[in-house]
Amino acid sequence: MSYDMVVIGTGPGGYVCAIRAAQLGMKVAVVEKRSTHGGTCLNVGCIPSKALLHASELFEEAGHDFANMGIKVGKPSLDLKAMMGHKQAVIDGNVGGVDFLFKKNKIDVFHGAGKILAAGKVEVTPETGEAQTLEAKAIVIATGSDVAPLPGVEIDEKQVVSSTGALELDEVPGKLIVVGAGVIGLELGSVWRRLGSEVTVVEFLDRILPGMDGEVVKNAQRIFKKQGFDFKLSTKVTGVEKSKKGVKVTLEPAKGGEASELEADIVLVAIGRRPYTEGLGLEEAGVALDERGRVATDGHFKTNVDGIYAIGDVIAGPMLAHKAEDDGVALAETLAGQAGHVDYNLVPGVVYTMPEIAVLGQTEEQLKEAGIAYNVGKFPFTANGRAKAQRHTDGFVKILADKTSDKVLGVHMIGAGVGEMIHEASVLMAFSGSAEDLARTIHAHPTLSEAVKEAALAVDKRPIHM
Ligand code: FAD
Ligand code: NAI
Repeated sequence: MSYDMVVIGTGPGGYVCAIRAAQLGMKVAVVEKRSTHGGTCLNVGCIPSKALLHASELFEEAGHDFANMGIKVGKPSLDLKAMMGHKQAVIDGNVGGVDFLFKKNKIDVFHGAGKILAAGKVEVTPETGEAQTLEAKAIVIATGSDVAPLPGVEIDEKQVVSSTGALELDEVPGKLIVVGAGVIGLELGSVWRRLGSEVTVVEFLDRILPGMDGEVVKNAQRIFKKQGFDFKLSTKVTGVEKSKKGVKVTLEPAKGGEASELEADIVLVAIGRRPYTEGLGLEEAGVALDERGRVATDGHFKTNVDGIYAIGDVIAGPMLAHKAEDDGVALAETLAGQAGHVDYNLVPGVVYTMPEIAVLGQTEEQLKEAGIAYNVGKFPFTANGRAKAQRHTDGFVKILADKTSDKVLGVHMIGAGVGEMIHEASVLMAFSGSAEDLARTIHAHPTLSEAVKEAALAVDKRPIHM
């Protein structure tokens, strides 16, 4: 069997690359070792976590805020099994959608573990049955990432869980310890806190969400604390011991010092993810990795071996589904002779907590470090009519614009719904727009997005509602 392109892995990177290549007239096959398509994102990542975040947010609102708006429902009670059923139905619908798209685009699907024998040859070994070899002009490695382990701590997905186990607990833990105050720790910590857990987050650094704009993070940390999160910052976990009753976690100050202990029912390890290349045959095929174990590529997704390419979480860059998708589109277009391109300065980041956090471009810290002079425009949701109507007034929009040219260099938001609102910044910045362009664009009233326009006006010190 001979193809123009064989893609190994059908996560957001792989399935999107395959579809775009098929649209451009290539004969395409995909190889996936899971029984369903969609990779980490659709099966155990973005999609199930958002299903639980949505349901748990409504549960919390029903308990705390409905009465403030004159809706009396009594104390809501939790049917966790039904909530997990909702999550599974959402997963099934999404992975089924990928099946449909493969058929629609006449993409051949092979279930089994893919191994690169050499440039041009991929062996597929199904769980049962014979292995077969596919021939390909282009092989695309889109095998994604896996949970980074905490040295000395065994993840059993029952008491000591990764995000995968944390998405399918069959009981609400009384006490949950989260190791790592990154995106997973805060999103899944939020789910279980809303459903009734006491959540303690242990973070090695002296702040949560490393890399994000300091002012946004400070605000977020204050709000999460008010919601009931207990943060132990500048602290490291030195041991995790399981017993029938629960888990005992030993902590130490990050810089060393006296140890202390915490007990919990469940410990969630969320200290990052690492590229997944196991069993792919990369060494035998001569494909080079970089210093962090990622498949090394040039600026156009090509590895050091002709005819072998890589995209998504398995290569450098943010480990995000939309980045993997855009890698996939750009590679398919490049192989079809077009000018595929991804602007890595414009990959939005969204944390789907309540309030949400959405960021794009450079932070104030980065601008200071680079010595770039800038103006700041900020607008709080407390001054936005729609936010007041919805009782979601936490947070603000902050715009950073070049002091001389007024070009927008960074947009950082915290507030309800900002994960949707960030995209007007994406379009603006993709076209090198200025704060003045944004300030002069009509925004419908009353919308949360008016806070973006007001922040743009604030860059020139002329917000109307503040
Ligand atoms: P993956 O989605 O990891 O897919 C790789 C696929 O390759 C898998 O299906 C795997 O089975 C298959 N595979 C691996 N090796 C082989 C082999 N040898 N043969 C055959 N198949 C193989 N990102 C966001 O942008 N937004 C979010 O809200 C978000 N939420 C997340 C929540 C959680 C809990 C987690 C864990 C991640 C989340 N992410 C989110 C990150 C997102 O899931 C990843 O960035 C994205 O899935 C990467 O896509 P990918 O195609 O590179 O790899
Ligand atoms: P992360 O990189 O976001 O956060 C990990 C945190 O753990 C960091 O704050 C780090 O300082 C801390 N840490 C590292 N080692 C530690 C240790 N030994 N003890 C205590 N703290 C330690 O990683 P996370 O949350 O596991 O998520 C992995 C990736 O998945 C994210 O980087 C992101 O790419 C993706 N993701 C994206 C989501 C989104 O876009 N909304 C949601 C969930 C995951």
